[in-house]
Amino acid sequence: MSSKPKVYLTQGIPSNALRMLQEKCDVTMYDEQKAGAMTISREEFLRSIKGVDAIYLPFPVKIDVEVLDTTGPQLKVIGTQSVGLEHLDLKECARRNIKVGYTPNVLTDAVAEAAIALTLATARRYKEGMQSVVKGEWGSTWDNSLYLAGKEIRGSTIGIVGLGRIGSGVAKRLRAFDIARLLYCGRTKRDNDTELGAEYVAFDTVLKESDFVIACCSLNNSNQRLFNAEAFGKMKSSAIFINVSRGTLVDQEDLYDALTNGEIYAAGLDVTTPEPLPTDHPLLSLPNCTIVPHLGSATAVARNAMADLTARNIIAGLNNEPLVTPVPA
Ligand code: DGY
Repeated sequence: MSSKPKVYLTQGIPSNALRMLQEKCDVTMYDEQKAGAMTISREEFLRSIKGVDAIYLPFPVKIDVEVLDTTGPQLKVIGTQSVGLEHLDLKECARRNIKVGYTPNVLTDAVAEAAIALTLATARRYKEGMQSVVKGEWGSTWDNSLYLAGKEIRGSTIGIVGLGRIGSGVAKRLRAFDIARLLYCGRTKRDNDTELGAEYVAFDTVLKESDFVIACCSLNNSNQRLFNAEAFGKMKSSAIFINVSRGTLVDQEDLYDALTNGEIYAAGLDVTTPEPLPTDHPLLSLPNCTIVPHLGSATAVARNAMADLTARNIIAGLNNEPLVTPVPA
């Protein structure tokens, strides 16, 4: 029997991080081929974690009292390969002295770039454009018609909800687009706002005055369904809503209504509820709703860095050393 500490992974990870773990630990991993499902079920997860010393979460999987009880008192460390923490019962982990590591900073640029990409793709109607090419409905973009004419970012007012690491990364990049105003809201005024040329305003002001509202905040108990009928009702009918935060920030039924009633112009979503979004979901039928499969941090550079950091956090935790990036206390 191996005397190495046991680590369970809920999905495969990049090879460098896997090698780092395998050198020090006895690694077992969810086998999607064998299970016949891409994502691990709760039952399979609970069956697999019994007796392990560490859990590696390549994507968010709920960690609650039942998971911690099932794993057992030997559990020392959890590494989540994400900057979002809403899937973890951090209080319970702290109470049990289980260390938790996450992956801030290394994905900031990738997610900020993805937010810009989604903003542009939505504003310039790329979903409709791509579909029209495939369907052989390519119209003339060179006559005087407004065939698939979208919106420009230049000269617009942009409102960022949450000027943290990712929101700041988005703000920094937006400066290159010659925008008119940059507004932001959040729990506190940020020290870097002057440098970014961003004005701290109320959430309502962001909604009422922005041509683009970009949600970059982290999810917490008070902002679930922040974007609901009331919020969409306050936005300009020409506004574009972008979400690179979390799906549960949005009431999707209200978003569907807002997009179909013309309350807002379009939406671009990197995140949904649930993920994956069922292929028959009503939002997918809307030409003015661009949805991508949570690609925010999906660059090879970011994902490798996230995996390496998670492996280093787990190894540090198993060695009773401070984690490289522990979750904030
Ligand atoms: C995170 O790290 O929480 C991101 O959503 C991953 O893309």
